[in-house]
Order: sequence, then C-alpha cells, then structure tokens
Amino acid sequence: MSRTALITGITGQDGSYLSELLLSKGYHVHGIARRTSTLSRGRIERIREEAQRRALTYDLHYADMSDAGSLTRILLKVRPDEVYNLAAQAHVAVSFEQPEYTTDVNAVGVLRLLEVFRTNGIPVRFYQASSSELFGAADSSPQDETTAFNPASPYAVSKQFGFSIVKNYRDAYGMHGCNGILFNHESPRRGENFVTRKITLGLARIRYGFQEVLSLGNLDATRDWGYAGDYVDAMWRMLQCEMADDYVVATGKAHTVRDFIEKAARVAEYEIEWRGEGVGETGVDRKSGKTLVSVNERYYRPLESTRLVGNAAKARQHLGWVPTMDFEGLVQLMATADLRTVRDGGSVTEV
Ligand code: NAP
Ligand code: GDD
Repeated sequence: MSRTALITGITGQDGSYLSELLLSKGYHVHGIARRTSTLSRGRIERIREEAQRRALTYDLHYADMSDAGSLTRILLKVRPDEVYNLAAQAHVAVSFEQPEYTTDVNAVGVLRLLEVFRTNGIPVRFYQASSSELFGAADSSPQDETTAFNPASPYAVSKQFGFSIVKNYRDAYGMHGCNGILFNHESPRRGENFVTRKITLGLARIRYGFQEVLSLGNLDATRDWGYAGDYVDAMWRMLQCEMADDYVVATGKAHTVRDFIEKAARVAEYEIEWRGEGVGETGVDRKSGKTLVSVNERYYRPLESTRLVGNAAKARQHLGWVPTMDFEGLVQLMATADLRTVRDGGSVTEV
C-alpha cells in the first residue's frame, strides 16, 4: 500500500528534490505552501504537472509554520505516515535582521508540529531539517554527531531548539523523530541569495552583459558543499530505520568561497586573478582585465561560523548513504545551468 508523506517547505530547494524522490517511490505526496503575494512555485511547477499527467497524488495546502491552527487542520486531514519538516527562514544573514520571526518559524514551528502529533496521537515518522550551523564556531574539525554545538547566529540558535525539542519528544514520548544535521547542499534550484547560486548566476549575468560586477562578503569562509539531490535521499533513508536517530550528512571536503568563484569563473571562460586584500580585494579576469568580483562589507555577518566540514561516517554505516557528486561536479552543474538560463532569457532553472 502506498505511504503518505507531508513536506513542509515543499516550494524550497530541498522540498522540490524530495518531492521527486518520494513520487518516484510511489508515495502520495502532500505539501504545505504559505500564502505569498506572488506565487513561489517555480521549483515545483513542472513536478506538479508531471504528477498530474501520471495521476499521482501531489497536493498543496495553504498553511504557515507560525499558525498552529493551519498546521493542525492539514495534519488531521492528511494523516501522513512521514513528515519532512523543511520549512524555515533559512538565510543566516537575514536571521540577524529578523531574529524573532526566524525563531517563531524555525524553533516554535517545530514544536507546533510535534504538539499536533502528540495531542492527537498521530504516529508519524518525523524528519527535522537540522543544520551544520549548529556547530557554529566549532573548536574541532571535522564535525560529527558528538561535536559540541556552538551556534553563531539567531538562525543557528533557532535550529538548536528544533534539534533539542525533537530529541526531547523522542526520549519523553517515544516519538519517531530524526534530526538530519545537514551541511551545505546546493543545486541549480538553490535560492539566489545563498553564496553558491549568487556566484553562478552573477557570473552568467556578467558573461551575457546583464550585470557589471559580483559583490560578495567573506571570500575565505569555508564550507562543506554537497549536492541537494544526494541529501534528500539521506532524509528519506533516516525515516526508513526502525530506530530514530540523528545523523550528520556531509561530503567531508572543505572549500572556500574563493575556490568556488575560481571554478565557476572557469566554466564561464574567465580566469580570476586576485588583487588587493580585505574590503579592497577584487577578482579580475586575467585575459580582459575586467573586474568581476568586489568585496562589500554589507555581506559580512556580525559573527561567522568557522571551518565547517562534516564527518558522515555514521550515515554511511547505518544508512548506506554516500554522496554521488563532488565539488567540481557541483560547480560545473550550477555554473552551466545558469549560463544556459541567462542565455535563453529564462527565470527558473530546470535541471
Ligand atoms: P529554502 O529553499 O529557503 O526553502 C525554505 C522553504 O520554507 C520554502 O518552501 C519556504 O516557502 C518555506 N517557508 C519559509 N517560511 C515559512 C513559513 N513561515 N511557513 C511555511 N513555510 C515557510 O531552503 P532549503 O535550502 O530547501 O532548506 C530546507 C531546510 O533545510 C531548511 O529548514 C533549512 O534551514 C535546512 N537546511 C538547509 C541546508 C542547505 O544547505 N540547503 C543545510 C542544512 C539545513 P517560500 O517558497 O514561500 O519561501
Ligand atoms: N549569502 C552570502 N552572500 N554569503 C556570502 C557572501 C554573499 O554575498 N559572501 C560571502 N559569503 C559567505 C557567508 O559569510 C558564509 O560564510 C558562506 O559564504 C555561505 O553562506 P550561505 O550560502 O548564505 O550559506 P550558510 O552557510 O550561511 O547557510 C546555509 O547552509 C546552512 C548549513 O550549514 C543555509 O542553507 C542554511 O539554511 C543552512 O543551515
């Protein structure tokens, strides 16, 4: 018999890849989407059409993580076997500007869902989108499930609450709740104000004359970047285990923002040379002498997470999960997709 899954954050990057995965496995898929003045369904429009064509269940319901009533109504109606909680105010820099909203959605929002399950006796398997940002200013590297949390932003603090309340409901009430401590994962569907997509889209726009320069913050920030398509598979694997647990999901390889720019620039047929330092630093194309990258203090954060790189040995051993795409493949995929999108005048990248 087909299982039923509900995805919060279904319109986001991960929600779109998880939709495809679950539909391919025969699930009835439901998602919550919030009401916005313009529709934010670009990532899932094609998935929806395909589901319709094949007569598969792929239903969207209006709700908001800040509105317990709307969540309750939908959960009681859908009665899902699995819930993937991906909805969040997911931008770290924005969380410094909107800490209260970020906490309401990312922290209290998780509790709202858990309370619906508990008070109505709904026996779901629950996935919580926890984050490597929990490690924040970590004092050891690489990080795994035993590394102490040291969150360095309101976003990370809100996600620490989410992590802890899932663990608490698991211990106190025997709820099947898993935390995926996912390191950064990207794709051509990544939001345009996260650094990888900002770089690939910016370089493509410069290449085709729609933008002058790419303005960025800390070029030496180090992250462990993987492919979103691989990471949603880890989410699903967690919920298939009899025993709920928490897992780090990562590639184990660290790269700087600077590395990412250099590789993406090559795909756009530029050769970056760095000149100057700090906020005066620029990235110049060796052949044409054109300035492609400048540094702007505006994109620095009040506090940065340190060298984030994960050890996913537990996920490998217990879930049989391994990433299929390396850093080079990821940059190539994103840079190529954006060059094509900008060249063809499209707004949504379909990959
Ligand atoms: P994303 O593309 O920004 O998607 C976030 C989703 O949450 C969107 O569907 C958004 O809806 C929805 N949302 C935001 N506020 C909401 C609210 N108040 N009520 C209902 N829905 C709301 O993020 P992502 O990259 O897919 O990440 C998915 C989850 O994984 C997030 O929880 C994120 O914090 C976490 N995470 C991500 C990464 C990563 O590297 N991608 C790593 C670790 C953890 P709209 O489309 O209407 O904006
Ligand atoms: N966004 C952005 N914009 N980041 C920049 C820029 C810029 O112009 N310039 C440099 N950076 C640096 C940031 O300071 C950060 O160190 C790094 O690039 C990555 O930034 P983001 O792509 O915004 O991602 P993040 O690491 O802060 O957060 C993402 O990954 C987390 C998992 O570790 C988000 O997806 C979070 O939701 C997720 O939890």
